Order: sequence, then structure tokens, then C-alpha cells
Amino acid sequence: MAGRLTIIIGAQWGDEGKGKITDLEASSGDYDYVVRYDGGNNAGHTVINDKGEFKLHIVPSGILHPQIKNVIGPGTVVDTIVLADELINLHEAGIKDYQLAINPKAHLVMPWHRLLDEAQESEKSDNNKIGTTKRGMGPVRADKHAREGLRVGDLLRKDFYTLFFEKYNEKKKILELIYEYPESIFLSQLEQIYELPESTILNVSDLFEYYVSFTQNIKRFIRNTDDELQKALRMRNQGVLLEGAQGVLLDLDHGTYPYVTSATCGANGAFQGAGIAFNAIDSNEVRVIGIVKAYTTRIGAGAFPTYTEGEFDTLIRDVGKEYGVTTNRSRMCAPIDFPLLRYASRLNGFTEIAITKLDILSCLKEGIPMGRSYECQMTSIPYDCNHFECAFGGAQAKLSIFPAWGKDITDIRNVDDLPDEAKLYIQEIERACDAPVRYIGVGPDREQTIIVAEDRVVHW
Ligand code: IMP
Repeated sequence: MAGRLTIIIGAQWGDEGKGKITDLEASSGDYDYVVRYDGGNNAGHTVINDKGEFKLHIVPSGILHPQIKNVIGPGTVVDTIVLADELINLHEAGIKDYQLAINPKAHLVMPWHRLLDEAQESEKSDNNKIGTTKRGMGPVRADKHAREGLRVGDLLRKDFYTLFFEKYNEKKKILELIYEYPESIFLSQLEQIYELPESTILNVSDLFEYYVSFTQNIKRFIRNTDDELQKALRMRNQGVLLEGAQGVLLDLDHGTYPYVTSATCGANGAFQGAGIAFNAIDSNEVRVIGIVKAYTTRIGAGAFPTYTEGEFDTLIRDVGKEYGVTTNRSRMCAPIDFPLLRYASRLNGFTEIAITKLDILSCLKEGIPMGRSYECQMTSIPYDCNHFECAFGGAQAKLSIFPAWGKDITDIRNVDDLPDEAKLYIQEIERACDAPVRYIGVGPDREQTIIVAEDRVVHW
């Protein structure tokens, strides 16, 4: 008998509120596993529930549920210093009873990847900077694809120091020769990154000692999950939830390249990153929940067709508290973009959607701008989407104004009680995604969510 498989995908440029929906799904009792399948600690998932407020970066959002096995899958990249820190924070917040497995095939984000990320960005001219989170994502993936990376399983090897030392020396040469970064400078930069007192890291041995002081705490979680997940779905009738990071428009292959992250953010790569066959269960039974924020945000550079500087941006940022969980940078805020939602949904096969932060739009009293179309007919992101001459990157999306509801909706728990304008707004999103809404977020708490019954025909 086959199990249950659900994939949670950000439908925009990340920060859609995936953590909250993952936590909600996880608390349904339907799942035995929550799996992070790609990305690394560049992600920041906020979960607010009866246990408190948690900001998770690499730990799966099922960690707050003691009965759930949380897996950091083979497709992820893991910074063990950040991971160990996150586990300490959870412990201090009273979360001691959890299940976690880290697949040994996941790649390790090493301290030099962070340095290289910083160096590569600072070499670029202002126009070409990607605006990365500086968490080493590009450099660690470059090593992985060049087949030169270190993996989580390597932490258990007796000769790990030799591997560490060899890689350090290689990267030291690159940093010194290409980026003209002397060792003494980049080591003191690491002290700043890790918030250590000056002169704590004077040489590679100090760095190694610092590094392994974190890995001791996580070695016990390293476990091969390949067979376990396959069996869960194929034989044990168990539930598996695959938790995406970032969003479809930041996907390395399908996003606004090169202003993307170095990972797969969509549903198609979820099987690969988790190590699950695409037909482990009948594909008609796979749920793909697209998480759609009621407006659009973006951090970093690249095309952003519905964006214009001005009141919408500043007001929504303020009311929606749109600041990065990982880097605390301001997010740019813009109206919802229907052509891009259509693209995201088709590419990933959303079977349903969750609309988050609908309550934030209550602050707009005169009307809600929305991007319905572009100057050109567009069904996907063109390859030159960031060029000014391209209709997508250069021209703005055509905005129209939708009637505002302009009143507080944070206490509403039943979809029928929403103002008519809000119902119509939701219907427009459903139409763009060609998928029914399941969740509507009307506030940050887990309880502030309207759950739409599965059998409801959503025509208001
Ligand atoms: P990187 O993933 O740090 O290499 O950054 C590449 C691009 O992805 C930059 O524009 C980042 O701002 C963006 N990015 C990476 N992670 C997130 C996220 O969790 N939310 C939103 N944007 C992100």
C-alpha cells in the first residue's frame, strides 16, 4: 500500500511563508517525515506556534513535532556551524524532544565557501552583483558540480583533518592569487563572520579546531535515509512532506538567471534532492502546495516586473515586516504578478495553493494594484529576462487596480466571512494558478489561518 507525499513550494522569489504552512501540515498528523531536499542555510523559515517563535535555516520545519522524523536530504548543503547553533537555540527554547537525520551525501558548506561568496560578489560591478546572502551557496555548489566538495559523511572519517587541510590550501591559493586576499585578512574576516574575539583564528589548525567543536554535536544525527524514505512511501503507508526552500523564480534552471540561487527550488527537483522515485506513489496522489504571498517580494538584484519605488513598497514593507530572516535586509515589495504565478504553477504542477499574508493588504484603502499582463504575451521567463530591452525586464508589467476591502480580517476563520473583495482577490489567484486554495493566512500565528475544506467548490 502506498503512502502520502506532499511537496511545499514557494511560488515567487522566496519568503512566501512556507515555514508556517509546513508547520500546519505537519501538525495534521498525516506525516511521519518532513524532508528538506535542497538549498541550505540561505533560507529562513519562521514558525510561530504555541511553543514560541522559531527562525529555522537548515533544520526542517517539522522539528517542533516530536513524532515526526526530520531529514536534511542529500540534495541540501549543510553549514554545520549554523546547524549546531540552530540546535542549541532550539534546546534553549525547550525543544529537546525531536528526531533528526542528516543524509551523509549532503555537501558541506565550509568556512572558505563563505569567504569566496563574499570575494566573488565584491569583485562584481554594482550592476552585476547578485545580492547573495553570503552564506557560500554559489561556491559550495561549484565544488559539488566540479566533484571537489566535502560531504557530511566525511565528518566521520578518521582522516577528516587531512581532507580539511587539503581543501583549505586549495582555496587559500584561490583567495590569495585571484582575489588578492592574504591569509591573515581572510582569517580575521572569518572571526567577524563567526562573531569571535580578535586573534582567535590565527591559522588553519585554529580554524579546524573551531570547526570540529561544532561537528561533535551533530555527528550522531548522520544517517543514510535513502532506503527509509522509499520504504515509507512504497511499503509502510507513511506520509512524507518535502519542504522547499526559496521560490520557483529563484530556481537555478527556471528562475531569473543569473539572479537566482544555486539550487533547485521547484517540485521537479524535490524527488532528486530527497532521494525518492517520482512514481513511488501514484502521481495523481502527490499534492503540490504552491505557497503564494498575497503580494510579491524580492531581495537581491534581478528582474522584478511589478515593482516601482514608492508608497506600495514602503507601506507593505512596514506593515508586512518584510525584512530577511537570514540577513535582515529589506525586501522590495510589489503587487502580485499573475503571469509569473501562472508560470510557477504550470512548471511545478500545483495541485492546490496556500495564500499567505492576505491581512497585510487590509492597509490599502484606495485599491490594490495587481500585475495581470505584460506588454508582450509571455508564458515563461525568457532567457534574457534581466535585459533592459526585454519586455519582461525593461518594461513594467501592466498594473490594474483591484477594489480594496480596507478592513481588519485577522480574526476571520471562515472563508465565507471574508469581505467580498477579498474573496474575489483569492479567486483571481486561484484562476492564475489553476488550483484551488487550501489555506489563507490572515496573521502570523498558526491559528490565524483559514482552512478551506477540501471538497469545497471554490466559486464565490
Ligand atoms: P544566495 O542563495 O545566497 O546565493 O543568493 C542568491 C539570490 O537568492 C539573492 O538574490 C538572494 O537574496 C536570494 N535568496 C537566497 N535565499 C533566499 C531566501 O530564503 N529568501 C529570499 N531570497 C533568497
